[in-house]
Amino acid sequence: MSVEKIRATTVLHLFWILAFAGVATAQTSSRGLLASSEAETAPSFYADVLPVFQNNCVDCHRPNAPDVGGITAPMSLLTYAEAYRWAPRIKRALESGYMPPWGAHVQHKGTFKDERYIDDADKETVIAWVDAGAPEGETPEGASPSESTTLLEDSKEGSGRGLTGWWIGEPDLVVEFEQPVHVPDSVQDWQPTFNMPVPDGAHTEAKWISKAELRPGGPWVHHIVSSHMGVGVPGRGPFTYPEGWGVLLPEDPYITTNMHYHKTPGPGSAVEDLTRAGFLFYEPGDVIDYVVDTDLNFTTRFVIPAGDPNYEVKHQRPFEEDTYLLSLGPHMHLRGKAMRYELEYPDGKMETLLWVPDYDFNWQFLYEYEEPLFVPAGSRLHMTWWFDNSEGNPNNPDPTAEVVYGAETTDEMANARIYFAPASPRGIVVGEKIPEELLRAAEAREAQRRRRISAQMGRGRM
Ligand code: HEC
Repeated sequence: MSVEKIRATTVLHLFWILAFAGVATAQTSSRGLLASSEAETAPSFYADVLPVFQNNCVDCHRPNAPDVGGITAPMSLLTYAEAYRWAPRIKRALESGYMPPWGAHVQHKGTFKDERYIDDADKETVIAWVDAGAPEGETPEGASPSESTTLLEDSKEGSGRGLTGWWIGEPDLVVEFEQPVHVPDSVQDWQPTFNMPVPDGAHTEAKWISKAELRPGGPWVHHIVSSHMGVGVPGRGPFTYPEGWGVLLPEDPYITTNMHYHKTPGPGSAVEDLTRAGFLFYEPGDVIDYVVDTDLNFTTRFVIPAGDPNYEVKHQRPFEEDTYLLSLGPHMHLRGKAMRYELEYPDGKMETLLWVPDYDFNWQFLYEYEEPLFVPAGSRLHMTWWFDNSEGNPNNPDPTAEVVYGAETTDEMANARIYFAPASPRGIVVGEKIPEELLRAAEAREAQRRRRISAQMGRGRM
C-alpha cells in the first residue's frame, strides 16, 4: 500500500472511531453508574474506556511518551494489550487520585490552563471495566488493534509531542549541551552550570520568546534554572505564553543553564545527560503588550523540628503597581506537604488563589491562569507552606533531622514563584526597534545570574 493510501485509510478510520466513541459515551452516561457484576453491560475497551483515556491520559501515556520535566509515563494507554496489562494499577491510580496528576484543589476547576481533573463518571467507567476483567469488546470495524493505535497517535499531532518530539511544535531555535554531561556514580546532589552554545547564525538579534521548552535528559534532573526560560522541574511542561505576552531573548552566543542533578549514589548509578532547550519566537508585526517578569518569593527563616508532621511557614509580598498575574509555581522538597497562595485586596478582602492540599515533589506544576488575574496596586500576596518531617511521610529521607533552607534535595525550600507583568499594555511591535531599557534589563538580569552562579562555583559547591 502506498503511503498516501495508508494515510487516507487512517483518516477514515479515525473519523469512524471518533463517531463510535461518541455513541459509546452517550450510552455510558444514559446507563448511569455501572454495577460491575452485570457482565453484559460491563464497559469494554474500545467503546467505553479508550475515549476516557483519550480525554484524560494519552497526552502522556502514548508511544514515545513525552518527557514531563524529566519523567515519562511507563506505558501507552492507546493499545488494548498495554491497558489490559496495567489494569489493576490503573484502578489503584484512579482511586488514590494519583492519576491524572494535578495538584490544585478541585475548587480551582476552570481557573488554570491544562488542568487535569477527571469526571467522576469517567473514573467509574474505567474502574468498572477493570472490575469486569478489563474486556476488550468489539474492535472498531475494519481497524485492527494495531492500526487503531496508529490513527489515534496521528490524531494527537500538534497537541502533544506530535511528530516533532517537542510539546511546543518545531522550535525556531534549539540549543543543547556541547556534549553529554557525565554524572558519576558518586553523585547524590550536584549543581553544575553549563553553557549551551547557540549555533552559528541561529540567533543574531534579540527576539521575543512566545514558547520555550526544556528537555532534561532524564529523571535524575532535579531542576534547571535559566533566566530566559524559567525553571524546569519534575512534572512541568513547556512555557507557552498567552498572545501578547513575551520574554526577550537578547543576542547571546550561549544560553546558560544551572543544572541540579539528584540521584541515589553508588556503583552503576552514573548517567549521561543531554539536556536541550527549544524556543519559538514572535513574528514581525506581532504586538507585545506584556513583558513577562518573574519573582521567586521565598523565605529562609524556618527551622523544621525533627519529626514534626505539620510545620507551617509564612511569607508576604506587596504589589506596588497594578499587575497581571500569569502563573504560580510552588516549590518545596521532599518534606513539602501543602501550599497556599492567598491575595489580600486593598479593601481587605481575602481570596485563595491556589490551594495545593497534597503537594508532591515529583509533580511540580506551574499553575497558569486561563485568563491572567488583575491584581490592583496595594494588594498583598500571602504564602503559606506546610512541611511533614515525620516518619509518616514516605518521601522523608530522615525524620530525625532538623531541616533548614538549602539547595540540596534533602534540605528544604519554601518558594512560591510568580510570573507577572505590569498591567498597562506596552504596545511593542515586533520587528521595530526594541526599547533600549528592556534590552538592558534582559542583559543585566542574565549577567547578574552568571555572576551569582560563578560566585557559587567559587565557594566550591560542585
Ligand atoms: C501529565 C502526564 C500524565 C497524565 C495526563 C497521566 N499520566 Fe499516568 N503517569 C505519568 C507518568 C510520568 C507516570 C510515571 C511516574 C510514576 O509512575 O510515578 C505515570 C504513571 C501511571 C501509572 C503507574 C503508576 C504505578 O502504579 O506505578 C498508571 C497506572 C497511570 N499513570 C495511569 C494513568 C491514567 C489512567 C491516566 C488518565 C486518567 C493518566 N495516568 C494520566 C504521566 C501522566
